[in-house]
Amino acid sequence: RMFVRRIAVVGTGYVGLTTGACLASLGHRVVCADVDVLKVSRLRAGQVDILEPGLTELVGEGQAAGRLHFTADLTTAVADAEVVFLCLPTPMGAGGAADLSAVESVARDLREVLPYGTVVVCKSTVPVGTSQRVAALLGREDVAVVSNPEFLREGSAVRDFLHPDRIVVGSDSPQAAERVAALFAKLGAPTVLMDAASAEMVKYAANCFLAMKLSYVNAVAELCELVGADVSSVTDGMGYDRRIGQSFLKPGPGWGGSCLPKDTHAMVQIAESVGVDFALVKATIDTNHRQQRRVVDKVRDAVGGTLAGARIGILGLAFKAGTNDLRDSPALAVAELLAFEGAELVAHDPEIREPLVGMTVVDDPYSAVRDADAVVLLTEWPEFRTLDWARVAGLMNGVLVLDTRNHLDEDALRRAGLVREGLGRKQPAAAG
Ligand code: UDX
Repeated sequence: RMFVRRIAVVGTGYVGLTTGACLASLGHRVVCADVDVLKVSRLRAGQVDILEPGLTELVGEGQAAGRLHFTADLTTAVADAEVVFLCLPTPMGAGGAADLSAVESVARDLREVLPYGTVVVCKSTVPVGTSQRVAALLGREDVAVVSNPEFLREGSAVRDFLHPDRIVVGSDSPQAAERVAALFAKLGAPTVLMDAASAEMVKYAANCFLAMKLSYVNAVAELCELVGADVSSVTDGMGYDRRIGQSFLKPGPGWGGSCLPKDTHAMVQIAESVGVDFALVKATIDTNHRQQRRVVDKVRDAVGGTLAGARIGILGLAFKAGTNDLRDSPALAVAELLAFEGAELVAHDPEIREPLVGMTVVDDPYSAVRDADAVVLLTEWPEFRTLDWARVAGLMNGVLVLDTRNHLDEDALRRAGLVREGLGRKQPAAAG
């Protein structure tokens, strides 16, 4: 039996907007607040800026049903709320620690305006102890604070919200935790109740583990190249072990995005703050930088040992396919290293049109490969698989396409007279 609740969501980034729209789709009455007045008016008009499949539809449906509202006024948003979700940015601040100023400032503002007995939910990824800090800033005996970390991947946030592997709810007030867990009852997902500090830790521990899995695979891929093994067979063979699992085992140009880089750095900071050297997470980060340098080494080799004056075509800039997000994109990191060594870069990404420093961004892939001494694929957009490779070969100056996502059809490129080099396999030339 579901209880319909009156909910406010503060912050309409991809987490906040997904949370608000999905809670409305579950039947709750939701008011979303954002300080960005223009964004609020766009959302009222049904315009969603972020690329998130299904989200525009849910926002439209919620508004049409009268269950989803947008406002730029925090006081109005929370006026009759029973539960308030904080979905605010926690960017990487000084020294790698999470910058909590947005969360803290909203907590201060809420102090005077929250209705009696409201539950405040921290959805943002915040260091252990932040729930307590928020409770202190709120300074309200009647208001409980709950940590409910999100596990939403960009590009599948709506699906991840509606079909979660699990729901984690942490609070030092069991009644408040139960009330928040009940909001998601309809989803039928395993729900793990715990104390607030543990819930805050789950998010870091999970994301660092995922980053570690990827750095591990990237390091194994490097070894595979050197010993003559094929990383895709190796990960396939590993992944059937249920303790390992098949997912999150694809090598690439390094991991990026809005979460993993930020959360790994924050974890190192959290550990340092309690006198622990978290060497494993540090190595995970270092291995990621090394992976980016390795991609650059391969491109340099492909153009005869020096990048100065070489023209490199770049396919893909977003940190992964299905998003237009450039935050901590490994593609940008690789591009920066290439430019630093004097390469001339021409890049195409189906979702990126804006000009970027250090490269020319063009709006079709064929312009990106024209006269290129080598091409490097950095984001696994499906459309790159079906490029007209004969046309690419005709336009390029060189023949090498470095496929850092193991995404392309080797035979199709070979038939066009190109050399495709992937990651984690003995190089085509050396294979003889
Ligand atoms: C991640 C977590 O998955 C999610 O649970 C959390 O809430 C937010 O951070 P997201 O940043 O959207 O989500 O991206 P994700 O799909 O997890 O990919 C992260 C990075 O790893 C990307 O750069 C991606 O390209 C890379 N990746 C992922 C690989 O290189 N190989 C893989 O097999 C999987």
